[in-house]
Amino acid sequence: MKILSGIQPTGRFHWGNYFGAIRQYIDLQSNEQAFYFIADYHALTTVRNPDELRGYTRDAAIDLLALGLDPDQASLFRQSDVPEIPELTWLLMTLTQMHLLEKCHAYKDKKDRGIAADAGLFTYPVLMAADILLYDSDVVPVGVDQIQHIEVTRDIAQRFNHTYGVEALTLPSAKVVESTARVPGLDGEKMSKSYDNTIELFETPKRTKKRINSIKTDSTPVEDPKDPEACSVFALYRLFATPTEQDELAARYRAGGMGYGEAKKTLYEAAMDHFGEARQRRQELEQNPDTVEQILRQGASQAREVGQRVLDRVRSACGLSHTG
Ligand code: TRP
Repeated sequence: MKILSGIQPTGRFHWGNYFGAIRQYIDLQSNEQAFYFIADYHALTTVRNPDELRGYTRDAAIDLLALGLDPDQASLFRQSDVPEIPELTWLLMTLTQMHLLEKCHAYKDKKDRGIAADAGLFTYPVLMAADILLYDSDVVPVGVDQIQHIEVTRDIAQRFNHTYGVEALTLPSAKVVESTARVPGLDGEKMSKSYDNTIELFETPKRTKKRINSIKTDSTPVEDPKDPEACSVFALYRLFATPTEQDELAARYRAGGMGYGEAKKTLYEAAMDHFGEARQRRQELEQNPDTVEQILRQGASQAREVGQRVLDRVRSACGLSHTG
C-alpha cells in the first residue's frame, strides 16, 4: 500500500492532531511507500506572517520526528519543496468543476458567514488532490473533517482518467480511525485550534496540568457516583489507557467518592507518561536543526523522484511535452 498524508503547520500540534492523525501516520509508516508532508502551501491560506510560518513548519517537523516518525521508513518533507505539486494542481484545475469546490466546507463555511474568501481557499481542495495524486497514493490517513476532500480528489482523478481515456491517476481512499477520530477539547466540543480548547502536545508540564484542570466537568459532589461516559476527562483518559486501566477508572467514577480533580490528576499522569520519551527526543532534535533540515531535504528528493514520474505520465496524457 502507498500511504500519504499531510498536516498543516498553522499552530502547535495538540492531542486532537495526535490521536486523530499523527498516531496513524506512525502506525502506517512501514508500508511499501509512506509519504508525510508539512502542508505549508495550504497554511498560506491562513498564516500570513513569514516568521510564524517558518516556526510552525520547523516545529511540525520536530514534533513528528519526536513522536516516532522514522525517516528510514517514511519520507518526511515540506510540501513547498516539491514544485511538481503546483504544476499538477494547475493541470487538475483545468477540469475541476466549480460546483464541486463550492460545496467544500472550508470555503462554504466562510462564505455562509459572509466573509470574503480568496481563490486560494476556494481551490484548496485541488492543491490537496495534487498532493495525493502525485505519488499514486492508495490510502490517505486523515481526520473525519478531511473525508470530503478525499472524495473531491477521487472525483477529479476519475474525470481526468475519463477525459483522456487513460488510467493516468490512481484513485485513493481515506482511512479514518473512528474510535479516536473525535477527541473532546476543554469545553467538551471537538478539540480544535479554532475553538481555543486544545491541550498542546509539548507545552510545559505545568501548563499541561493547568489546561487539564480547566477541562469542563459537571457539579456532581465528590461523594456521589459519576458517569464516566458523560465526562471529557474520561474520554481523554481512554486515549492513553489500556482497556484494564479504563475499566479501573470507570469503576472509580461509578463507585462515588472520587472527585473530578482526582480523575484529572490520573489523566495528567497518563499523558506525561505517554509523551515522556517524545518530549525527550524533541529536546535533542531542537538542538540539531541541521539533522532535521537534512531529513526534510532527503524526504523531498524521494518524493520528487516518484512525483516526476507520475507528472510525466499526466503531461503525456493531456498532450504536453514529456520525457517518458
Ligand atoms: N487539508 C489537510 C488538513 O487540513 C492537510 C492536507 C493537505 C492533506 N494536503 C493533504 C491531508 C493531502 C492529506 C492528504 O488537515
